[in-house]
Amino acid sequence: MIQLHDLQFEPYIDNAAIKQRVAELGAEITQRYAGKQPVFLIVMKGAFMFAAELLQHVNLPCTLHFTKVQSYTGTKGGAIASFEGIPQGLEGKDVIIVEDIIDSGNTIAFLLPHVQVKHPASVTTVALLQKKIHRENNVHADMLAFEIPDVFVVGFGLDYNQLGRNIPAIYAVKEV
Ligand code: IMP
Ligand code: MG
Repeated sequence: MIQLHDLQFEPYIDNAAIKQRVAELGAEITQRYAGKQPVFLIVMKGAFMFAAELLQHVNLPCTLHFTKVQSYTGTKGGAIASFEGIPQGLEGKDVIIVEDIIDSGNTIAFLLPHVQVKHPASVTTVALLQKKIHRENNVHADMLAFEIPDVFVVGFGLDYNQLGRNIPAIYAVKEV
């Protein structure tokens, strides 16, 4: 059990299971993009640990960029609060957006048009987690490590008001 601010969290997906599944995703990307040189667009801060793990299993020449989109406060989503740019030079490139978790899908729905106006050859999304909920915007990860129910989770990059990102496994909030 872990306490962060006022909430308690219990183990949900352990480090070994994450590593195994992420290695599979890396192999899938390696296969799908064989002969190409993809550009990874990593959504900070949450995706930092997932990206670090995933990229070690991508056996291709590739480049990385970081973008920052912030919407969440506490355990609730909301409107996009801050956004730090899309890099130059995506034209004709195969872009892979790397996200920690797809919840409402608002972040990806917000980001996609900003990437598409740069005229990349292709755009796909890879996510560590995706919540199994109904989404009006119909957004979903093209490649996904784990689908989870609608629970609030922390760890492996994900935070609760900025705490918990360093935890090497995924923990779910304990219902009180
Ligand atoms: P969306 O825009 O609603 O899809 O949410 C995406 C962002 O909200 C993610 O990149 C996370 O930063 C944050 N988020 C959504 N669900 C959770 C959660 O369960 N724990 C921690 N952060 C979350
Ligand atoms: Mg995030």
